[in-house]
Amino acid sequence: MAAQTVEQLIQEGVRGRRVLVRSDLNVPLDDSGRSRRVTDDGRIRASLPVLQKLSDAGARVIVMAHLGRPKGEPDPQFSLRPAAERLAELAPFEVEQADDTVGASARSKAENLAEGGVLILENVRFDARETSKDEAERGSFADELARLTESAGGAQGAYVDDAFGAVHRKHASVYDIAYRLPAYQGDLVRTELDVLDTLTSTPERPYVVVLGGSKVSDKLAVIDNLMGQADYLLIGGGMVFTFLAALGHDVGSSLLEQDQIDTVKRYLDSATRTECEFVLPTDIVVASKFAADAEHEVAAADSLEQSSFGSSAVGLDIGPASAKDFADHILSARTVFWNGPMGVFEFEAFAGGTRTVAEALTGTKGFTVVGGGDSAAAVRSLGFDDSQFGHISTGGGASLEYLEGKELPGLTALGK
Ligand code: 3PG
Repeated sequence: MAAQTVEQLIQEGVRGRRVLVRSDLNVPLDDSGRSRRVTDDGRIRASLPVLQKLSDAGARVIVMAHLGRPKGEPDPQFSLRPAAERLAELAPFEVEQADDTVGASARSKAENLAEGGVLILENVRFDARETSKDEAERGSFADELARLTESAGGAQGAYVDDAFGAVHRKHASVYDIAYRLPAYQGDLVRTELDVLDTLTSTPERPYVVVLGGSKVSDKLAVIDNLMGQADYLLIGGGMVFTFLAALGHDVGSSLLEQDQIDTVKRYLDSATRTECEFVLPTDIVVASKFAADAEHEVAAADSLEQSSFGSSAVGLDIGPASAKDFADHILSARTVFWNGPMGVFEFEAFAGGTRTVAEALTGTKGFTVVGGGDSAAAVRSLGFDDSQFGHISTGGGASLEYLEGKELPGLTALGK
């Protein structure tokens, strides 16, 4: 059954009703100053339209969100406050913040919330029941969250899931809550699914997938699935060293997932029997150590230990020849999906590969999708604008798991 939409909720009549909205406000923060500052507000901006729609329609909106991975108890380091404050700066509506999730502050603020008002609860992961594996524990938290929507006049509450980035989590505020209130799919979730469905069903060809990031083990399932769909799989980032090792090359002291080498070997073997071609870097920027100011040079990808740093060589970016090769593939593609930076883009000396790939995405005539928190943050921090890409997904793990073809709990619950 198709999920109900926010339009349907508004048509049913939402004025005065309390609506719980799950948003993904899990944004990167800079902790170096006295106050913590949001360094990439992409997810906050993407969360605004649904909140505004509901506020304009007169709903009393209660936002549930997480930030980071606290250990199931309040921890100021993971307070949602900086994200809520940024949301308040951007929002055309009034925003209030609760000091807890389902405690006295949340209950009283939810009760006194005006029509059109928006209340942000504290980090739902401050309550251990949110992420519990035990259904009864999660259920008791979901019950308390649902109770925030009760009203003296008896108007029925509702739940909207707009947190695409969290739909792969079987958590109380994503999954269990949807079985306790009339549930609706947020517009952001709808948009993300429409884009990802285009990639899985009818991508224009050539379809090029660029994968980076540090861990190959996080990406194995999606690689397996994409081998049957993409024309080219371009591999960069820290995960590339497991591929190079699988080909029998020395990788010095670079990041390596030894236990994944055999699986990667199998993928490389089976790719030769499919239409999909792996494109690996031919050169690597190696450094003497993992540091922004480390000495560095370009080395051949098949012999990093031949560099000046010998067995201590650490690969921190794809090299310029590989970046150009990747860019050429991207420029002649009709569809591109990119997940994961090509190197340690946070250090200027090792941002070249990521920058070249991002530039190629902005220059190609094909439809481009940037998936994942890290890649989205990378393109923004390198000075690119969202409008230069076809779509920047708010989902990291969620978009990968969707592309893997996995069943995602947040979506299952909405289609109930
Ligand atoms: C993300 O950052 O991908 C989402 O907000 C989910 O966060 P999580 O991986 O901590 O569940």
